[in-house]
Amino acid sequence: MLFRHGALSRRDAILLLVGASSMHLWSLLFSHHSLSTDLDASAHQHVPAALTTTVRELRTKTIAHTQTDTATATATITTTALSTPTSKPQALSPYTPLPPTEVLAHAPGWTLFRNLYMSNGTLFLAAKDSATRMAYPEVRMMTSTGLEAFNTPENIALREPTSRDMQVIGIEEAQRRWVDKESGVNRVWSVEGNTLLFNDPKQFLRHYYHLVAELFFGVQAFWHGAFSAPTPASDTQAHFTTEHPAPPPLHRAIFIHSDADGWRDDPGFNRYFLRGVFPSLAIEHEEDWADRVVATSNLDANDGERAFHFPLALLTDRSAAHRGPVCGSQTQRTAAEAWEYMRGKGKLRGLHAGGWWAPVREAMWRFAGAEEGLKGLKEDKGVSKEKKANDQVPMGASLPGWAAAAADDPDVPGISSPTSASGTDVVAVDVSTASQAQLPAPSNIVITYISRQSARNRKLIKEDHEGLVAAIKELVERKNTERKKVLDALDGMDDDERRKRADGFALPPSWEFHELLAERLTKDEQVRAASRSTIMLGVHGNGLTSLVFMPPTRASTVIELFFPGGFAHDYQWTSRALGMSHFAVWNDTHHTYPNKPRVDYPEGFQGNAIPVHGPTVAQLIEDRVDGKL
Ligand SMILES: *[C@@H]1O[C@H](CO)[C@@H](O)[C@H](O)[C@H]1NC(C)=O
Ligand SMILES: *[C@@H]1O[C@H](CO)[C@@H](O)[C@H](O)[C@H]1NC(C)=O
Repeated sequence: MLFRHGALSRRDAILLLVGASSMHLWSLLFSHHSLSTDLDASAHQHVPAALTTTVRELRTKTIAHTQTDTATATATITTTALSTPTSKPQALSPYTPLPPTEVLAHAPGWTLFRNLYMSNGTLFLAAKDSATRMAYPEVRMMTSTGLEAFNTPENIALREPTSRDMQVIGIEEAQRRWVDKESGVNRVWSVEGNTLLFNDPKQFLRHYYHLVAELFFGVQAFWHGAFSAPTPASDTQAHFTTEHPAPPPLHRAIFIHSDADGWRDDPGFNRYFLRGVFPSLAIEHEEDWADRVVATSNLDANDGERAFHFPLALLTDRSAAHRGPVCGSQTQRTAAEAWEYMRGKGKLRGLHAGGWWAPVREAMWRFAGAEEGLKGLKEDKGVSKEKKANDQVPMGASLPGWAAAAADDPDVPGISSPTSASGTDVVAVDVSTASQAQLPAPSNIVITYISRQSARNRKLIKEDHEGLVAAIKELVERKNTERKKVLDALDGMDDDERRKRADGFALPPSWEFHELLAERLTKDEQVRAASRSTIMLGVHGNGLTSLVFMPPTRASTVIELFFPGGFAHDYQWTSRALGMSHFAVWNDTHHTYPNKPRVDYPEGFQGNAIPVHGPTVAQLIEDRVDGKL
């Protein structure tokens, strides 16, 4: 320790100098910082492009300015130790009093913290006072031991968190543990930027569905929701929008219980998704976490404990989510806890069009080269390519630098009392078929059938598969013949007549049918196929996960074929959360929300003799497109 021996060495003196001058820099930084925070607050509320640019320029100037100051200051000290604290206002300096932990938002299994600490593998919440301490969520609703989950009483008990996983302490206790009494220098190191802490075991991470359509689906709902202003029920347009102010960037994901292989699925979709949609996200694994644990474990009792400090962190925990009512007893989807919480606060912008998810969807389209998805966007929104490029910061896009990110002290609006930016009370709206019916009609109808007939299990009876394909082909042909008749009739008319017809007349859309064997397509091809699909159908399975990349239209529908009597929420809940319709088909009957079947995996669910009556499915598609269902 600095002053353990009561005398200052030369090195200590330099360190002290460094500390003092960085204090000075900190105060400089923080005064700029509060200025940019004010501007950030307004940036959240759809500031005109011109003003946004000014904000950005201003930030850049601020950084440049601060860096110049630092350069001058460092020049006088013969050490390089000062190069770090410049543009990182969230980090603690050696003398910063430890900031208390705030829980900014919480749903079972999803907790957003400001100033979370970790020492020797335990997450610490340092409460400002006893009232704050009482207001923290129950530890078991935030975390678990992170063990694999099985449905046995022993395993359920083993997943209950212990004081090894998380502890709530007072801020004085944190000072006692991590601040040197004599010198006031802390032993706390900031892990700068914004961090995702994933406490889930490999068991589920290694599946495309679970990583993309559950874990990151929930992350997006929670993160985007937290930093979005609540939408008043009366602001109908905002409920249909896919335009967003960007939330603070995500800098880092830490898989606490998974090695590098643990989240990579065999077909490779998870890494394709993560690198394509979040190109700047740094990923750490259990080995890296173990390094951090060791780094803060007490090596010499006299030195006192060390800790890491997370300025902003979203902790997710699968077992804790399953302890919540929405996931635990209604949907079995961890993301549903995140989604319902933010929906209830009116903070899922563009709810009816999956608008809150749009930054991820659009980033994936761009990565996959899904031209049509992107083209549709530009046309719908009536904006030119250039304007679009200026207005939107794509999710995970590389940012100009740490300090330039809107992350300094991000504002979490309307969590405690859902009040919109304009001060009006927010009444939460829900997704519904009626709302979906207000979306634009698709310009052409694309039916995508994800076939599992070459998979090992969960296949249709061969004849039924053939009957299904024949019935849909027949429907598509009939629709295109009807369209051709209309076109021919228009051709035969003179201009006057045609003009008269044009009033309130919509040309019937063209129809397409594609039968896809997912495992024979590249990942780009799968995303591109989804980005053009109006109707996606297939037997229950991972191939349906790409429904999260379907465009939102009036007719967007997922049709899931089950062995009669079988049902699971995976794709049903996910489709609905995006404002799309979902139908569970049992041979010649279909079921949709709110009359969905109860979850069941009857004998035959995984088998290769799943029946389906093709004409029933074709009729269902036709009725959906006609708006009859
Ligand atoms: C750190 O954690 C290990 C493993 O749980 C434990 O044995 C050790 O006593 C802990 N050290 C401190 C200082 O708490
Ligand atoms: C499926 O439905 C068709 C049409 O109603 C029926 O003929 C067939 O027997 C059904 N198959 C099964 C296995 O129930």
